[in-house]
Amino acid sequence: MYYPEELIEEIRFQNAIEDVIGEYVQLKKRGNSYFGLCPFHNEKTPSFSVSPDKQMYYCFGCGAGGNVYTFIMQMENYGFIEAVKYLADRANITLPEPEMSEQEKRKTRIREQLLEIHIHAARYFYSNLHAKRGKKALEYLENRKVDKKYQKVFGLGYATISRNDLYHYLMSKGYQEEVLSQSGLVIPEKRSRGYFDRFFNRLMFPIFDVHNRIIGFGGRVLGDGQPKYLNSPETLLFDKSKHLYGLNIARTARKDQILIVEGYMDVIALQQAGFSNVVASLGTAFTPYHAQLLRRYVREVVLIYDSDEAGIRAALRAIPILENDGISTKVLKIPGQQDPDDYIKQYGSEAFKELIERRTYTSMEFEIELMIKKYNLNNPDEKIGFIKEAGKRLLQIKSNVAQEIYTQEVAKIGGIPVETLKKEMVRYQQIQPIHQNTIVKSKKEPLEKDIGLHKAQRGLLYILCTEPKLYKLLQKYIQPQDFTDVTYQQVAQYIYTVYNHNKKIDEAGIVARFSTLAEQQKVSAIFTGKIHFQSKEQKQKIIYDQIKLIKQASIEYRSRTTTDLKELQKLIEEKRQLDHMNISLLDG
Ligand code: GTP
Ligand code: MN
Repeated sequence: MYYPEELIEEIRFQNAIEDVIGEYVQLKKRGNSYFGLCPFHNEKTPSFSVSPDKQMYYCFGCGAGGNVYTFIMQMENYGFIEAVKYLADRANITLPEPEMSEQEKRKTRIREQLLEIHIHAARYFYSNLHAKRGKKALEYLENRKVDKKYQKVFGLGYATISRNDLYHYLMSKGYQEEVLSQSGLVIPEKRSRGYFDRFFNRLMFPIFDVHNRIIGFGGRVLGDGQPKYLNSPETLLFDKSKHLYGLNIARTARKDQILIVEGYMDVIALQQAGFSNVVASLGTAFTPYHAQLLRRYVREVVLIYDSDEAGIRAALRAIPILENDGISTKVLKIPGQQDPDDYIKQYGSEAFKELIERRTYTSMEFEIELMIKKYNLNNPDEKIGFIKEAGKRLLQIKSNVAQEIYTQEVAKIGGIPVETLKKEMVRYQQIQPIHQNTIVKSKKEPLEKDIGLHKAQRGLLYILCTEPKLYKLLQKYIQPQDFTDVTYQQVAQYIYTVYNHNKKIDEAGIVARFSTLAEQQKVSAIFTGKIHFQSKEQKQKIIYDQIKLIKQASIEYRSRTTTDLKELQKLIEEKRQLDHMNISLLDG
């Protein structure tokens, strides 16, 4: 970790979790805690709790939990360092300048300059659009019915007919040619050793990141030329696989779904028609980065693609990417061969709203419909083909309820009893073990034994944290190195150190010692996974079983890895003791 631990803790103390979360979620006090609607999943009744005493949050609905760093990381999709910076800033704490290598410093300086260059360029394009030289472009925009207000909201501009206007303008601002060419806005020309502009005679769309910084441009020809759209190339700032056009605005809409369309003009038209929650992938296929980005803000999207073949293919490819990230995906096919921009222009925004409300399908309905079209269901062989394809797809549905519903649906369409279809599906799963869902499962889900061990380690850590009195006794039987899980081992190490210094356990402080979101969540889960004991005897038994399981795994692991004879003898002795272990907690 790159800042001293005391500083990390200081920043955490200066950011009361109830205040930080209060900026995102409406919290109501109930007893010692605050409650509100969970920002990480959709819900109607509050199951999200914040404890000022513990400085932790926990959602009883989706299991999200952690300290103030975890919250900011989860909410803003920040890394740990970013969260530290954000919270330091919020508490007016100045962070020490990180030690950067010369190369890193240079890169940072260039990034800063590139951001400035993009602002200059956007202002320049904007002023062109409103000068005499931009008359044609402005007419084009007006023909396409973009209001003044939205021209401004999206910062639209015009790159003139001249081939190196922008180059000269930016040079006059004092930038070096080398940096300008890294912006992608000017292109070096080998023969004349001069430079010319990438964009000329085009309507310009600045591309903003989620923090409203301009990182690139898209440019459209004013009419029918080719290519219709030209985008900034990849630069230090711009990677189109990681950005979505319009997200800077859509993220603040705070709606529970986001609409995904194909084009720049569709985003603008929809905004203008009152849909504040709309983005476009910039003429590229949808990527897992896009899904992650969206997941920060919503749990549901509506894919709005053209109903041509390319649009349908794009939707089919995007669905698994989105759903893999836990985003439920719906699909809207606009009737006719129109895009949202055309549709709204012809039928108005009310009609479009109707479409969204009435004509969106779940991803599964959409896919089944495509399959129905693909097969001739009057022909027995083709019908079998349909059932097979649909059955395999049904196996991929994660929710049991959804799988049941769609299985009934497919059986009905295929004209066979549900039970027959289910039997078939079991067969598909056996024939095709290398099935997407199966792979994911076998990779992610550890063996049952490991799950038990994990649970035992987590449970014992919880007991150690919450019952300081038991520490003296338990530490006779189990040591931090007995925790085979690396993260748990670190937590145990910390707990032992704290108790050995006669200090109190600070749960949120333990979480802050970990720097990835995954680790923080895993550690938080220790404290939130409460264990309820029905009786003293039961408690005794549970703790006994936990120690036994953990110790056994530890001995097994060490026997496998050691070559030292003395160590082996020690292990044999430990094993013997374990077999005769007899803990009495009740009178200890
Ligand atoms: P308009 O004709 O201005 O309404 O554009 P559109 O959005 O309806 O166009 P289309 O459906 O053809 O394209 C959708 C999106 O794909 C555009 O907004 C661009 O982002 C991208 N795109 C379209 N044509 C090109 C092209 O020639 N080159 C590149 N790089 N991207 C393109
Ligand atoms: Mn269009």
